[in-house]
Amino acid sequence: MITQSQKIASILSNDLYKANLKCIEEAEADRIFCKHDMEHFNDVIKIAVHMAKKNHSHINEEWIYAAGLLHDIGRGKEYADGTPHDEASVEIARVILKESGFKAYERLIILNAIRHHRNKGPKPKLLIREKSLRSVLNKADKLSRKCYECKAADLCYWPMEKRNREDYFENR
Ligand SMILES: [Fe+2]
Repeated sequence: MITQSQKIASILSNDLYKANLKCIEEAEADRIFCKHDMEHFNDVIKIAVHMAKKNHSHINEEWIYAAGLLHDIGRGKEYADGTPHDEASVEIARVILKESGFKAYERLIILNAIRHHRNKGPKPKLLIREKSLRSVLNKADKLSRKCYECKAADLCYWPMEKRNREDYFENR
């Protein structure tokens, strides 16, 4: 983690957050493909923060952290009952964000980014700052994957042209 505000520390110590992380960890214990763990969340945050700064997007960094930590938190529910994880993540994140002290308008923006981080289906029209957060989360999520050192590359469904050939920070 790069920095921690009180609200971000609150997410990390939230019981619902920890319980869902544990569900994901157990379900992915033997997973050969990309995992959805704290390493992934931190990678997404680092890249998203860098992209936002590079683009002069002025996105609230706390929102990037919250979205990065929570965007895949519904993975455990997806493994358990088939609920798409973007939907499940929103439902879980809604509770955690409120308990962590995020204001209603902040929750709306962060939940929108989580709901549409997979870039699937129709997207709602958003204000600039909501769109920016959604955009960096979506891009950072994909750019964070270490396809160049993946042992399951032969079995991965990602098309070759979409795979990452080097670490995001390699030439930056
Ligand atoms: Fe992700």
